Amino acid sequence: MLTTLLKRSWLFIRSIRDPRLRSEIFTRIQYSDRHYQGVTYTRFNRFPVLFSQCEAALKHIANPHIISFGCSTGEEVFSLAEYMPHAKITGVDINKWCLKQCNKQNKNKNLSFINRVSQEYDKLDNVDALFCLAVFQRSENRVNNLIKIDKGLTFQRFEKEMSILDKKLKVGGLLFLDHCDFRFEDTVTASNYQSFEFEKSERFRNRPLFGKNNEIISMDHYLKREIIKQKEKLYIE
Ligand SMILES: C[S@@+](CC[C@H](N)C(=O)[O-])C[C@H]1O[C@@H](n2cnc3c(N)ncnc32)[C@H](O)[C@@H]1O
Repeated sequence: MLTTLLKRSWLFIRSIRDPRLRSEIFTRIQYSDRHYQGVTYTRFNRFPVLFSQCEAALKHIANPHIISFGCSTGEEVFSLAEYMPHAKITGVDINKWCLKQCNKQNKNKNLSFINRVSQEYDKLDNVDALFCLAVFQRSENRVNNLIKIDKGLTFQRFEKEMSILDKKLKVGGLLFLDHCDFRFEDTVTASNYQSFEFEKSERFRNRPLFGKNNEIISMDHYLKREIIKQKEKLYIE
């Protein structure tokens, strides 16, 4: 009790001087369970293997459309634009401060940034590739002794979000997932997809993994590095 109070007071004091941290706290308060990873950490070219895979797979498309879901302050989008200068890339986030930073930096008309909770997002479709990197996880799910997730990012939320994202992706499109608290294979959506194996397509993740019932399956595991390619014409009616 005292520790929690001290932790919260310390967080409050830090947030006064740190707009990023403040935005993370406000977004969590505003969106609660709809807000997945609250931490907005990112960096330029953070996932070079995945970005190169995407570039190679989409090279036959003149102007592919890509979504970076959970784009934070835009580094993922700006990196992807270097790999694929002709792509139209839409960064999506739920943190308004992050989106503001993205728009401030953006000088490229092929790039745009929109809020997850917006009509623009709802209308997005026909996308060639979808990146969901370090968004379907929560730092809170890593606290000691947590056996079952009972609030926040549950498997059911993950599954619902994946089915919404699935509708935005073209048949034959690519889905990239990494740093995820769940297995994509456990979702209903996964029946429309197949893994696409490549060097480093799996990697060791030293963090808890949760199952369909939100209980911990393992404390460390090999998570498929999650490049999933949609099977052609396999949508379930
Ligand atoms: C750790 S950052 C990942 C940034 C980038 N994808 C990367 O891997 O470097 C997680 C981001 O997901 C965003 N996020 C959390 N919940 C979200 C939601 N429901 N819809 C869209 N973005 C969300 C956060 O605001 C944060 O910017």
